[in-house]
Amino acid sequence: MDEQRKLILDQFTRQAVPFAEMHARDDATIHRLLIETARIGPEDEVLDVACGPGLVACEVAKVARHVTGVDLTRAMIEQAEARQGSLGLTNLTWAVGDAQPLAFPDAAFSRVITRYTFHHFTDPVGVFAEMVRVCRPGGRVTVCDVFSTSAEQGEAYDRLERYRDPSHTRALQLAELEALFSGLGDVRREFYRYPVTVEDLLARAFPEPGGADAFRRTVDADVGVNRLGIDASREGGLRFAFPIVILSGVK
Ligand SMILES: C[S@@+](CC[C@H](N)C(=O)[O-])C[C@H]1O[C@@H](n2cnc3c(N)ncnc32)[C@H](O)[C@@H]1O
Repeated sequence: MDEQRKLILDQFTRQAVPFAEMHARDDATIHRLLIETARIGPEDEVLDVACGPGLVACEVAKVARHVTGVDLTRAMIEQAEARQGSLGLTNLTWAVGDAQPLAFPDAAFSRVITRYTFHHFTDPVGVFAEMVRVCRPGGRVTVCDVFSTSAEQGEAYDRLERYRDPSHTRALQLAELEALFSGLGDVRREFYRYPVTVEDLLARAFPEPGGADAFRRTVDADVGVNRLGIDASREGGLRFAFPIVILSGVK
């Protein structure tokens, strides 16, 4: 196993419960936007790549025929199974496994989705190719993630995020994410911002020693500057908003 995957397992085994708790509070409109942009309906066989605690997969299962969720971190899949049980959903299958390669045959799914994951991959282009491979012709591939808008802003943002989570690799620039979809048809895009307070985020994080303070200092120094592109403010405590894009295209 490479260093990045060891970091992922270390971080997300510890983050599984706090991550699931934080995102269980998310506004339902976030899920609706993803499901609508990915055009998921009652006939769809869906794969959720790096599904984490199954928050998206379970919402999707309420409208799709069947959802498979795959994630490298066993503790995340355990959270997903518990969530499925508490919701009484029966049309889900879970697997502990890698996004690259995906352990599924070509053209196995009509929809392939992933959320908040590309900034954890060392080879996002390779993962995207895997997502396209397992999607059937005429099906849709959908990526939802944080993005940067320039190399300089992206480098500053990546430095900030690694203070909080050493398994962060790189927030792709919007143009890089768009380029992934250049071979697909009918590309749809939606944007939203995901607001957080710094202390809530850090309470659920497992940074290296000194990382939490460096994170606070860096966000605070960006208030009124916005070099990081996250609209930092001190209103009601230090806070900011992740810029998120959903891109979806037809194979
Ligand atoms: C920030 S969480 C997002 C979870 C979920 N997609 C969601 O939106 O709630 C990132 C997830 O990616 C998983 N992950 C990272 N690298 C992976 C890889 N190479 N293969 C499979 N899963 C991976 C982690 O285990 C973690 O559960």
